[in-house]
Amino acid sequence: MIKANSVIKVVDTSEGSLQILRPISFEVKSGESIAIIGASGSGKSTLLGLLAGLDEVTEGEIFLDGEALHTMNEEQRAILRGQKVGFIFQSFMLVQSLTALENVMLPAEIAGLNNPKALAMDILENVGLKHRAHHFPNQLSGGEQQRVAIARAFITSPKILFADEPTGNLDAKNSDKIESLLFEMNKEKGTTLVLVTHDNTLAEHCDRQLTMNAGELVETTKTQAQETKEAV
Ligand SMILES: Nc1ncnc2c1ncn2[C@@H]1O[C@H](COP(=O)(O)OP(=O)(O)O)[C@@H](O)[C@H]1O
Ligand SMILES: [Mg+2]
Repeated sequence: MIKANSVIKVVDTSEGSLQILRPISFEVKSGESIAIIGASGSGKSTLLGLLAGLDEVTEGEIFLDGEALHTMNEEQRAILRGQKVGFIFQSFMLVQSLTALENVMLPAEIAGLNNPKALAMDILENVGLKHRAHHFPNQLSGGEQQRVAIARAFITSPKILFADEPTGNLDAKNSDKIESLLFEMNKEKGTTLVLVTHDNTLAEHCDRQLTMNAGELVETTKTQAQETKEAV
């Protein structure tokens, strides 16, 4: 589903060029759930953005559901994202001028799904925010905005869902709820999950954990969930 071959990311800064990612290679199978863990600043968000086609690699190849992301321009990547990818940003990235409901409806409208409003209401109810549907992002707490962002990523039932710290701003109860939603989607729809997280419970629930350290992928851990799956 995802294949990264010797991916490098270098950015220009005022102090010269900075290599954020060393050559990184790995694969994610269809329906797998992967946790990317590692210290702050190790390159997790950068890697996630590249895998999701939000950003361009400096060198190397990324295949997303068989499509060569590294050969596409921004417009082609945007089309591919719209068809296959859901993304939950660390900073939510909600449209401030739209209500929670309108934010969630937006990807469904773009994708031309039937009855986006009813669909969005259902999902908002799932994340416990039906009563906040007509509020604007600046009227919502960080945790509530995060749940709106999650609902927005879910609405098109993407083949691949990327999430950067999806439970980062949530209390234990809401983290559990979001975690259940993520793994329900993974099981029922076969959604491939790639999650950046500091949340050990969430990471442990994934099939595999990839650890980043200073721009390198240093280890792949098979979690108990995966071993149980393989034993069955
Ligand atoms: N556009 C950029 N320009 C300069 N430095 C960047 C840029 N993007 C990320 N970085 C730096 O690259 C490193 C990795 O960032 P990031 O991928 O956000 O790490 P993480 O998500 O693991 O905390 C950090 O030191 C960050 O400051
Ligand atoms: Mg980050």
